[in-house]
Amino acid sequence: MEFSGNTIRQETGRLFKALEEFEYSWEDCERLAPVTLEIHHLKREKNAIILAHSYQTPDIKFGVADSIGDSYGLSLEAKETNADIILFSSVLFMGETAKIINPTKTVLVPCQSGCSLADSVTAEDVRKLRKAYPNAGFVAYINTSAEVKAEVDACCTSANAQKIVENMPQKEVVFLPDKLMGENLRPLVSKKLIIWDGTCIVHEEISALEVKSVQEEYPNASIIAHPECQPEVVQMANFTGSTEEMLHFFASAPEKEFLLLTECGLAERAQKEHPEKKIVGTCHLCPYMKKIRLQHILKALKNPSSNQMIQIPEEIRKRAQKSLEEMFRLHNKDE
Ligand code: 13P
Ligand code: SF4
Repeated sequence: MEFSGNTIRQETGRLFKALEEFEYSWEDCERLAPVTLEIHHLKREKNAIILAHSYQTPDIKFGVADSIGDSYGLSLEAKETNADIILFSSVLFMGETAKIINPTKTVLVPCQSGCSLADSVTAEDVRKLRKAYPNAGFVAYINTSAEVKAEVDACCTSANAQKIVENMPQKEVVFLPDKLMGENLRPLVSKKLIIWDGTCIVHEEISALEVKSVQEEYPNASIIAHPECQPEVVQMANFTGSTEEMLHFFASAPEKEFLLLTECGLAERAQKEHPEKKIVGTCHLCPYMKKIRLQHILKALKNPSSNQMIQIPEEIRKRAQKSLEEMFRLHNKDE
């Protein structure tokens, strides 16, 4: 697609304003401009929206996304959108979630990018667990495949795990696949939890030692953790929640210095939205989330490959939808 020199210059200026703080040069933005222009053109032409997780790179989040958020918020947007095409710029399980609740829409993912949690458990594993724990309720974190979602009673996200588990009718709940999130939930719920052995390779890497060393340097910093972190890290935190809840706490807390214990993309967003606050300490990169490039998004919107188009066998989709609908129902209970 050809664009005039003036159009390219204007788009370069827009991108530079949004991305300069992330060390994109004018030349970088000039190189990206024809790509983002074509993406915007295709979005309009095809009535498509781009939902991007906060862990995506700045050029995606601030250059082409229509909405940025956490798994729960983006699932809700996917549920309510009028767009004909949903492009989910994130790992595969989030795109699958959008397709499960929107069977008639085209749902695209830029790359078939996995996730250490979603890849740690299969539908067959859940069927075996069902036999071992016939009286238990089964809750799957949203970071699971469509096949796994089809085998459980309800899904949850980091924004509602406690509420969903607590509202299960059974006394015993099998929680999968995140071992660390399960351990963090244990003291917060009245249920007997049986926990699967998966971990997020990004959050499990964050150590209490690392947090202590930042605390020594910044004793007044408020610590905000994701519930996929190790329990000893979560115990050190002033607040624990989903990425969107972390951002909300960051925005409304009176402190000036913060340690955000999650993937680097959230800190980028937090800093952009609140330049008056200081984020101290290191962050960690998710190799799965960071696989996605603008060029993958362009290709998916223009001429998607079969790998970029989410297809789920109807029998699995319907059962997975029940688990997601149960999550939405329990999430809104007593509200
Ligand atoms: P959130 O739903 O909190 O954004 O978490 C998704 C995720 O993959 C965290 O690692
Ligand atoms: Fe999966 Fe962890 Fe990456 Fe989130 S941060 S997508 S849980 S590997």
